[in-house]
Amino acid sequence: MIVALLNQKGGVGKTTLALNLAGEWAKRGKRVTLIDADPQGSALDWSEARNWEGLPRLFGVVGLACDTLHREAPELAQSTDHVVIDGPPRVAGLMRSALLAADLDLIPVQPSPLDGWASAEMLALVNEARIYRPQLIARFVLNRCGARTMIARDTAEALSENDPPVLARTIGQRVAFASAAQFGRLVGELEKDTPGAREIAALASEIDRLGIERSGL
Ligand SMILES: Nc1ncnc2c1ncn2[C@@H]1O[C@H](COP(=O)(O)OP(=O)(O)OP(=O)(O)O)[C@@H](O)[C@H]1O
Ligand SMILES: [Mg+2]
Repeated sequence: MIVALLNQKGGVGKTTLALNLAGEWAKRGKRVTLIDADPQGSALDWSEARNWEGLPRLFGVVGLACDTLHREAPELAQSTDHVVIDGPPRVAGLMRSALLAADLDLIPVQPSPLDGWASAEMLALVNEARIYRPQLIARFVLNRCGARTMIARDTAEALSENDPPVLARTIGQRVAFASAAQFGRLVGELEKDTPGAREIAALASEIDRLGIERSGL
């Protein structure tokens, strides 16, 4: 399965979720490759920091910030169980290519209705991609939910009928995500059994339960 973390909006958690989901699947024994489709190369930086810290390599990270991603990702997918794409910022060509490459587009958003998370532009891009790939599945994922999770829950409830739907599992606002990433670590590698690690595990399981198979372009 190819999962792409996409949102034209910056700083919503594309890289954080891509790395932690890839790590979670790798820890479950899946063969995982992460494609860094962001020219800023944050996932590649993380991988270098991890190497520097002498931590075990859990999954390969390749830099592929080019509009031929939709042709190259499926080739990579043949030799792995999961390909996770850390999506690019506002670069139309790259974004389209990443959208078309994926079986599942995950759109991280912050749980504020005022955040403009259901950006019309992003939805238009998903709808456009579906013309070429009708089997494309898209889901919102709420990231950086505050302790007052009722807000997040309200948002999720209000949007369960939404298209694309919102995943039931959410990720909290937790410093551990930022501090782990700084040292090439996953959220569960600073301390064992943290709330952040449990949220990532639950999110990975919810995605697995969607039962998405790799389908041809
Ligand atoms: N759930 C979270 N809790 C706390 N901090 C978070 C969380 N998710 C992301 N962050 C932090 O927010 C910042 C932006 O996250 P991230 O880099 O993952 O976003 P992005 O969408 O990849 O951004 P860009 O568009 O710049 O690539 C980072 O410093 C990251 O550590
Ligand atoms: Mg990023």
